[in-house]
Amino acid sequence: MSDFQIAVIGGGPAGYVAAIRAAQLGFSTVCIEKSPTLGGTCLNVGCIPSKALLASSEHFHMAGHRFREHGILTGELRLDLGTMMKRKDGVVSRLTKGIDFLFKKNKIERKLGTARLLDGRTIEITAPDTRQTLTADHIILAAGSVPVELPFMKFDGKQIVDSTGALAFDQVPETLLVIGAGAIGLELGSVWARLGAKVTVLEFLPRVAAGMDPDVSATLQKTFERQGLIFHLSTKVQAAKSGKNGVTVTAVKEAVEHTFNAEKVLVAVGRRPCTEDLGLDRAGITLTDKGRVKIDEHWRTSAPNIYAIGDLVGGPMLAHKAEDEGVAVAEVIAGKPGHVNYACIPNVIYTSPEAASVGATEEALKAEGTPYRVAKFNFNTNGRALAADTAEGFVKLLAHEKNDRLLGAHIVASNASELIAEAVLLMEFGGSAEDLARTVHAHPTMSEGLKEAALGIDGRMIHG
Ligand code: NAI
Repeated sequence: MSDFQIAVIGGGPAGYVAAIRAAQLGFSTVCIEKSPTLGGTCLNVGCIPSKALLASSEHFHMAGHRFREHGILTGELRLDLGTMMKRKDGVVSRLTKGIDFLFKKNKIERKLGTARLLDGRTIEITAPDTRQTLTADHIILAAGSVPVELPFMKFDGKQIVDSTGALAFDQVPETLLVIGAGAIGLELGSVWARLGAKVTVLEFLPRVAAGMDPDVSATLQKTFERQGLIFHLSTKVQAAKSGKNGVTVTAVKEAVEHTFNAEKVLVAVGRRPCTEDLGLDRAGITLTDKGRVKIDEHWRTSAPNIYAIGDLVGGPMLAHKAEDEGVAVAEVIAGKPGHVNYACIPNVIYTSPEAASVGATEEALKAEGTPYRVAKFNFNTNGRALAADTAEGFVKLLAHEKNDRLLGAHIVASNASELIAEAVLLMEFGGSAEDLARTVHAHPTMSEGLKEAALGIDGRMIHG
């Protein structure tokens, strides 16, 4: 008999959710996490602290730039970065403690230490002063990912930092160079630009937020440029040199070499799965050619009774995708039909305005030859958006030309992260643009933008 029925390695959104669902289903469950706090990257050094700083820096920016037109006059505006950081840390601490509480409530045993597979059912846990082993009938690997380091510019935690470093600067840098215009580069670039840094973004691809619909990328770039960010696209960073006064970065654009100097550099060129040091080979677990843990459609690795979820496996490295896999894998182990619909995973960039998308982009539909109809509603005719001073952005919907099924939704709006949920739900149920167009939406709300775009699919938009 094993010590536990289920052992989960990793306490991030994939692992802690899998542990909770496993315990709910009646399994004796242990979760092994090397960090003293649960919650993984998302809660400790990712989604949550970045959203706290995005909120605080947005307030600061509004007070400095937008209050006046609302008739609000302030005295001299000053920044207390220490308090802003303390608030961020408080939010993180409240949420990570909340997971401790959920573990206790669900009677999940928690072990502090680094886990490594010794064989197909034995795990060794190493902490600074202890080493122990335990056995489990089923093991769920949820060890997450870490930032990719560029080989020619190692993270030094001071001048050249990853996202964790850029969430904890002790003062606003005068100049910040961001490498990579993905979610992290755009979100953290926005935070420091709003707080007063001169931010320059270098991106290898010809557009920002390259995973999103081209219309979204174009609108975001224009908006961020208005907010003061400087972009150099189609620009590949190739070398860097640190000095007393900052870092000099060399990049190539259209075969011409350019240099950029900055006090600090944030490298945000993606994340890689933490597959090393897990003892995967001892258990006979193989990787895909992209370096992710190879799994079947039920998250089963090549070793019997060992599963993998979250950033370790294929698909977008997103907390909500990982959480849903956590629920589904526990249900599969319990003999239930656990399932994740990978075609309906929303993707959000939490800038101002936010960008959110689900389903196919227009270019993907063109490339695969799917006949579609498209409609775009701009928020500058939406009453609520104008009243709230959030009229920047649009809803773009794509529906199948023949059966009207919603194939994709792409939103740029102050609250796009919330608005997208309606499109996700509709797509989950296989709904059509007509279903959306005939659904009553409260007035005045920005959600009316979705209804208007749905009407637009059939050429009958009212306010556009
Ligand atoms: P990313 O993959 O989204 O973007 C990295 C960008 O860096 C790409 O556009 C790439 O072309 C560029 N790049 C790569 N090498 C370069 C070079 N040498 N010179 C110039 N540009 C270069 O990665 P990011 O932003 O680091 O995020 C990592 C992961 O975390 C992603 O999977 C992302 O989805 C996830 N994440 C999600 C968030 C959200 O949902 N809001 C927030 C933060 C991260």
